[in-house]
Amino acid sequence: WPALAPTIHAINILKKQRNAVILAHNYMTPDIFHGVADIVGDSLQLAIEATRTDADVIVQCGVHFMAETSKILSPDKTVLIPDMKAGCSLAESITAADVRGLRERNPGVPIITYVNTSADVKAECDICCTSSNALQVVESFGVDKVFLIPDKYLAANVGNKTDVEVLIWDGACEVHERFTAQELRDYRKIEPGVKIIAHPECPPEVVAEADFAGSTAHMIDWVKTRRPEKVMMITECSMADNVASETPDVDFIRPCNLCPHMKRITLNKILDSLLEMKEEVVVDPAVASRARQAVERMINLKS
Ligand code: 13P
Ligand code: SF4
Repeated sequence: WPALAPTIHAINILKKQRNAVILAHNYMTPDIFHGVADIVGDSLQLAIEATRTDADVIVQCGVHFMAETSKILSPDKTVLIPDMKAGCSLAESITAADVRGLRERNPGVPIITYVNTSADVKAECDICCTSSNALQVVESFGVDKVFLIPDKYLAANVGNKTDVEVLIWDGACEVHERFTAQELRDYRKIEPGVKIIAHPECPPEVVAEADFAGSTAHMIDWVKTRRPEKVMMITECSMADNVASETPDVDFIRPCNLCPHMKRITLNKILDSLLEMKEEVVVDPAVASRARQAVERMINLKS
């Protein structure tokens, strides 16, 4: 991207001057993903990297709950997000008071929170999980019933793989809930031989139509190792864009859906963020310390 080269160059210089690291989710656009990110990955990988970096500043290229997770794990670092309005329909679907209500009505039932929640919500939960490890976390309690909040589809997809009863909250990802099983069946007719891989935030009937379901990192690994002739990634659009340059032998068939929140993060906003050291993500220390326990319990689970 020749027109973007000066911005990419300026960001990379500023990163060194500020001793900053850029953590970028797999849904970032290719200019960010390939041009300025130091670490790319799914939610689990980014959370783990946030505990490992010795940078003074973390620039979180992703949505707000991801930046909060980094701050929870690295309270002494400055965590910046290039656009404070980068939210998430899942994180907005539940509050800390909702979790307290669930606990009151269901005493003794463990509450697992998907990482896509606010720090306030994480602070009320027993443990965190991501789409990479949700099944392992659900089974780690050794009980017959758990809550997995707030994504009803992730919970249902995990519930389909285990004997544990997985109780839900009525939240959904606005990107993945729009895919339908019928649309996948139609694409198989138009594109014979296409491999379809889906994110587990999709409805169960969509996952049932897919050849594979996994986190964004697992989807990327699947394409890189299996090298299908044609593949359709049932997830956010930047995924195919990011992996396509590394797998020129694979034909990527759309559709995909854009996440309007992830797309708020742009190269120009990253530059402004590093120039002006904005916008700083702050988490109340008392909330952060309770939320940290939930996230660290997940990270410390043996795989
Ligand atoms: P993962 O990258 O952990 O699979 O999560 C996808 C997502 O929707 C993040 O917002
Ligand atoms: Fe939230 Fe879905 Fe966007 Fe991820 S893709 S940030 S889950 S709305």
